[in-house]
Amino acid sequence: MWLRGALFLNSVRTLLASSEHLAQLCAAQRCNEPEHPILDYDQDARECVCSSHPCWNDNGLEHTCRGKFGFPFLTFFYNETKHLVCECSSFAHYGSIYVSRDLCPGHRCVDPEHPVLDYDEDTAECVCKSHPCWHDNGRRHTCSEKPGFPLLKMRYHEVDGRLERVCECGISMEKDQSFPLFEYDKPGADPDEADFEDDNEEF
Ligand SMILES: *[C@@H]1O[C@H](CO)[C@@H](O)[C@H](O)[C@H]1NC(C)=O
Repeated sequence: MWLRGALFLNSVRTLLASSEHLAQLCAAQRCNEPEHPILDYDQDARECVCSSHPCWNDNGLEHTCRGKFGFPFLTFFYNETKHLVCECSSFAHYGSIYVSRDLCPGHRCVDPEHPVLDYDEDTAECVCKSHPCWHDNGRRHTCSEKPGFPLLKMRYHEVDGRLERVCECGISMEKDQSFPLFEYDKPGADPDEADFEDDNEEF
């Protein structure tokens, strides 16, 4: 339980992003509130911010994926006219509102092998990428054995002025964290399961 508690604190105290574009834009910044777990960028203010999940208040509606057998992950994208669309997905999603709505409206990543919507600055294109933590110096991280922390996240951590990639498991994107995931809310086991403990040791 202690390990889980520590993981929980780590995951809410740090700013996380799976989009490389955003992680670099907002490198080494941190979010302290579990109510605002999403790393985001405010285009007008030109600053990095911590947002709550857009599907927690979709015009007053709080979406949840509890009890959606096989589709436990709360997911969002924005359509071509920048309207929010919330869904329950079979694979984890961790995206920013900035990339999804401001840079890539109408884009949606449906291939579980390429779940991360990212913006390629060089080509000015929106792309669906594989998760950066699936090829972390030859290592494929997974959170399938972390029942309370199903979400694989990447962020940058500053060490002596250099940015180092950190992969870690975080709490789900459910607003109500007061009750645990059901058995059937868990994602399928990952055959490439890797030991994950040492990623959290630096905290
Ligand atoms: C986007 O979603 C809104 C709200 O559901 C809808 O009214 C609009 O037609 C959609 N736009 C496109 C391009 O699908």
